[in-house]
Amino acid sequence: MLIFGGYGQVGEAMVATAAAAGRDPSSVVQLGRQQADIADPEAVQRVLAELQPRVAVNCAVFQPVDRCESEPEAAFAVNAVAVGALAQACRKAGVRLVHLSTDYVFGCALRRPYREDDLPAPQNVYAASKLAGEHLVLAASEMHMVVRTSGVYGKAREGHGTTPFIERMLERARAGQQTRVVADQVISPTNAHDLARGIWDLIGCGGTGTFHLANRGEVSWFELAVVVFEAVGARQLLRPTTAAEYGAAAKRPAYTALENARLCRLGLEDLPPWRDGLARHFAAYHPDLAPSA
Ligand SMILES: NC(=O)c1ccc[n+]([C@@H]2O[C@H](COP(=O)([O-])OP(=O)(O)OC[C@H]3O[C@@H](n4cnc5c(N)ncnc54)[C@H](OP(=O)(O)O)[C@@H]3O)[C@@H](O)[C@H]2O)c1
Repeated sequence: MLIFGGYGQVGEAMVATAAAAGRDPSSVVQLGRQQADIADPEAVQRVLAELQPRVAVNCAVFQPVDRCESEPEAAFAVNAVAVGALAQACRKAGVRLVHLSTDYVFGCALRRPYREDDLPAPQNVYAASKLAGEHLVLAASEMHMVVRTSGVYGKAREGHGTTPFIERMLERARAGQQTRVVADQVISPTNAHDLARGIWDLIGCGGTGTFHLANRGEVSWFELAVVVFEAVGARQLLRPTTAAEYGAAAKRPAYTALENARLCRLGLEDLPPWRDGLARHFAAYHPDLAPSA
């Protein structure tokens, strides 16, 4: 297996969970942006020819979400055009591509967890670029797979990837900083290791097309932050706010919880509830925190 954007939180989690999934971790090759920029078709073709993987996982992404609003061309260049070229290169090389996408492809239509066959309605440039990437992946080959997930937290390699919301909240709570978090946006926060285990399962059973993989249940960003601040004993520092008041550059959907409907229909094990995922994240990376999560 070859992982593009391999040193981010999901890429690292794929390696960390390989043995538990019955795979040899040494058969997983991680490539950072410096070794293979997915926006460089020659680099992509070269690594596919050299390494001859059976499966490629694309974790490379142009983000954060707000930056995409001011750099739409760059967002579409990586999240759509480069992803489409990667999907075509994989098809030509006989490699199955697993591409990561996002709950943000959905709009504000529903108040129950979105299933794979619900209609996307992107609300910002990031979401639109990711949805375009999904279409290009699925158009390239019936063998490819798109995995949508939500609010991922894990541990990227030092110097790579993004710092997840949970870790940013922990830093603020520990530093004693007053913090406002939006209470009118609901997601399904997902432990990167649980996500990775789901990806291994889907690869193992030959899944194709679009799948949702998120920890079960739903929570607002504010309620999620409450769990973190309470664990540090700093609940008094946290205040709820609204998306309108917060005024982020990118408009975000009010509700994007996901249901892993197709995973369950295949008879595969559903992902654990989000509180369980968060408790294991704390136990693994912050064992000093109270186990109340
Ligand atoms: N994080 C979330 O909350 C969340 C939610 C829903 C969906 N997802 C999806 O999950 C996937 C993985 O996200 P993540 O949280 O693991 O991201 P991440 O930690 O930020 O990792 C992404 C990696 O992509 C690499 N990268 C960026 N541009 C690249 C390029 N042009 N070529 C090759 N590599 C490139 C970065 O490398 P460098 O560090 O070397 O720059 C980074 O390590 C993405 O598709 C994202 O849309 C994430």
